[in-house]
Amino acid sequence: MSARTAGTPDLPHAPWWLDGVVYQVYVRSFADSDGDGVGDLAGITARLPYLRDLGVDALWITPFYASPQNDHGYDVSDYFDVDPLFGQLADADALFEAAHQLGLRVIVDLVPNHTSWDHPWFREALAAGPGSSARERYLFRPGRVGADGVEGPPNNWVSRFQGPAWTRVPASLDEPGEWYLHLFDTSQPDLNWHHPDVPAMFDEVLRFWLDRGADGIRIDVAHGLFKAPGLPDQTLQPGESADPGESLITQRPSHTPMWNQPEVHEVYRHWHRLLASYPGERMAIAEAWVRDPADIADFVRPDELQQAFNFHWLAAPWSAPSFQAVIEQTLSVVPAPTWVLGNHDVVRPVTRYGGGALGLSRWKAALLTMLALPGSAYIHQGEELGLPQVDVPPELRQDPRAGVPGRGGRDGCRVPLPWAGTEAPYGFGPGPGQPWLPQPASWAELSVEAQTGTPDSTLEFVRRTLALRRRLLADGTLSGPAKVFATDTELVIRRGTLVCHLNTGDAPLTLEARGQLVNGAEVLACTGDRPGDPNTATWLRRT
Ligand code: GLC
Repeated sequence: MSARTAGTPDLPHAPWWLDGVVYQVYVRSFADSDGDGVGDLAGITARLPYLRDLGVDALWITPFYASPQNDHGYDVSDYFDVDPLFGQLADADALFEAAHQLGLRVIVDLVPNHTSWDHPWFREALAAGPGSSARERYLFRPGRVGADGVEGPPNNWVSRFQGPAWTRVPASLDEPGEWYLHLFDTSQPDLNWHHPDVPAMFDEVLRFWLDRGADGIRIDVAHGLFKAPGLPDQTLQPGESADPGESLITQRPSHTPMWNQPEVHEVYRHWHRLLASYPGERMAIAEAWVRDPADIADFVRPDELQQAFNFHWLAAPWSAPSFQAVIEQTLSVVPAPTWVLGNHDVVRPVTRYGGGALGLSRWKAALLTMLALPGSAYIHQGEELGLPQVDVPPELRQDPRAGVPGRGGRDGCRVPLPWAGTEAPYGFGPGPGQPWLPQPASWAELSVEAQTGTPDSTLEFVRRTLALRRRLLADGTLSGPAKVFATDTELVIRRGTLVCHLNTGDAPLTLEARGQLVNGAEVLACTGDRPGDPNTATWLRRT
């Protein structure tokens, strides 16, 4: 076994986000108040008591701004308004107010890397033509003529969704058509952050939502804003693909001409000051898929952002040594990081960990383990119900990535939540109307109603665990730095007087249960029938 100690930050007092649990609401799929089959803001407001009772500190809501919905809201056409699909500005105000009354904070999603092609700036840019200042707010470039004499994209960059990261402006708009950069869908043109209008508008956007009551912002594609000068070709190492496919961070270099340029940090230092000018502990979290944990740390500095998503656990296989490596690497660079097992972009963890009873058991064990660590935890909606990934029939898929041959897309983790009843839509909306993605028949037994009050349900496990963690943080059991040990099949975390044992192997650990005591330690929580069982985690308090 090897051990390493990591520290917690030395702050005068702990702000809420330092060890807060944040619940991710994917707005289209959480709760539908008006029966159109799509979740909305009023639906979230009505369900806030559920989140309070679950025991989370905050909710992060995915983009609900005006958008043609090509990437389900991550393509914004007006940052200062609510999309009619999700309600009106007054619904956002009501949501903030109701959340605050219940003691919940609200994090909104900010999309600064790109706009929608329906944004007035992009329309203006297309109409204004090559060389216009309107085009300089985006990244328009002439094409590059290849050895074959045919004009192609300006460089070799590949979109995160499919094909080249460049689309040619139709010849009807300019001749010969320029190309514009989009690191994601063709409907999501990348902004030029060197143009002064761009940072100026986002200052206004931030203030707009902070003034209305947002407690924090999640920064979409936070590592993407600036591109290397001259937009050079991406140099690939032998065997490396420019197309990241379905892969997670493991294959994505931290430093490429399109990602993680140093200029982003100046923007976030500025936003830090802007957030600090507001009362309360406002915060920002970066979504930055960078390969090296040290690069995550660059976003989380005292004068920069409060948090960055740490996706490394999510990308790790089910194995004690690999979890140990992720935890140690992370804690060595960020003392109080974030822990994430799923979100709206990746396969649900129950399925990733093997599916069925095995996957569920492993997910519960992973959750209990991460909740023992210093830092904050993010839970994707539906994880608390043990929802698996859904195999959405190809003809019903809606994710722009789902059209790419060989890639399933992200619909399967975005299926609307089952709240109650025995058939779809399981109380997702007020009537019998079906939601925008079909819910499986097997979800009747996974609904909030079906699981509430059932002691061995996943939902009650999560409620108990979050309540217990809160108590243990308050009474000092769970405090200070963590020491992490691992064998091939066992991960042990010691923190304060808590010891967490995670068994990733097939054989029971030799934790001998004697009533409520294991080797003299009190059993505080156990995700299986017996402490130490395979694919379970156990929390013990050393006496
Ligand atoms: C982020 C979002 C993802 C979106 C992409 C483009 O990765 O999480 O859903 O498609 O950014 O905005």
